[in-house]
Amino acid sequence: MKKKSILLGVTGGIAAYKMASVASSLTKKGHEVHVVMTESAQEFISPVTFRAITGLPVETDLFSEPEKHEVKHISLADKTDIALIGPATANIIGKIANGIADDLLSTIITAITAPVIIAPAMNVHMFNNPIIQDNLDYLSDKGYKILAPSEGMLACGYVGKGRLPEPNILVEYILKGLTTKDLKGKKVLVTAGPTKEEIDPVRYLTNYSSGKMGYALAKSASYRGAEVKLLSGPTSLDDPIEVEVEKIKSADDLYEKVINQMEEFDIIIMAAAVADFTPENISENKIKKNNEDYLDLRLKRTKDIIKEISKNKDENQTVIGFAAESKDLIKNAREKLEKKNLDMIVANDIKNKEIFGSDESEVIIITSEKQIDVSRSSKEDIANKIFDLLK
Ligand code: CTP
Repeated sequence: MKKKSILLGVTGGIAAYKMASVASSLTKKGHEVHVVMTESAQEFISPVTFRAITGLPVETDLFSEPEKHEVKHISLADKTDIALIGPATANIIGKIANGIADDLLSTIITAITAPVIIAPAMNVHMFNNPIIQDNLDYLSDKGYKILAPSEGMLACGYVGKGRLPEPNILVEYILKGLTTKDLKGKKVLVTAGPTKEEIDPVRYLTNYSSGKMGYALAKSASYRGAEVKLLSGPTSLDDPIEVEVEKIKSADDLYEKVINQMEEFDIIIMAAAVADFTPENISENKIKKNNEDYLDLRLKRTKDIIKEISKNKDENQTVIGFAAESKDLIKNAREKLEKKNLDMIVANDIKNKEIFGSDESEVIIITSEKQIDVSRSSKEDIANKIFDLLK
């Protein structure tokens, strides 16, 4: 993503400190972060913190002398690619909803034409107050993006909905807001992670898949405007924002879920590392050693899910598979592309076990017409490359 100008509006809530992390993360990604603070915000966190993090002046006053001859609220509003107000108090929400512009932040927001995200944070009763809810609904109707506060312990001692979402989530919404929506109108199904094949009540067979590639695909598609569903095996990853996530366990479970809903999707991506074999029988009781030196575990083949998808798909659906190979990478991947009747296959050389769990990978993307080598890059960049090639 090219360098963007991001405006962070900080108002007077206890969660104002979280915005320092947001500013830091966005600055580290190379963006220009302009922080505008209300008077009450400065009771919670100092402008000096933001100035040091962003390396830019922090604006607090509508009438302070501008560095250049410019009308400050207009020039800041004009250069903004996206704005986020967080924590957004009941006061700023009420002001924006009613067109009140009586300080620098409310004036800039009134003048801004770029997307504005509002992240309310306040006491749960204040948040549930019908006037606040009406204001939020009104703002949502007018095109402002309202983030639902998260639940948990609030500064006032109450437990409930009112917390500012964590900084990494706020950053995700900002980055998503800055992404071109070239997959708008598309519905994408992604499978990710390993499967878990039960042996007995305490044991199972699985593999090294971390799920990171599938999650990166789900995130990239969602950033680009697609409606995304992620069927995920057990992973330690956070759910991508605005993606419907359904957990799966075994290869059989994944098969049922994919086949039952595949017709709803335009693009289906099987990034999951599906077990090829599963125990023939799941032992009801824990398998005992009983002085045996060996255990015979009979495994049976699972269904090839992607092959089944290709058999049942219609001509408008695109099916993408992955090939994990430890030798003859391209030859084997090409064979899978053909045998499984796929539109695209992403070949991974797994001889280098380091790729498991890594944020980066090196792949070859193969279609019937093209073969593209993608040198070591982040799984997010690889995901974007895959969607670029579908265009
Ligand atoms: N796949 C699937 N169902 C299975 C096994 C694999 O849908 N039971 C999908 C994977 O999600 C991947 C593609 O098939 O998109 C290729 O998976 P891979 O493990 O590389 O190949 P296999 O078909 O299992 O063949 P082999 O194990 O012989 O390499």
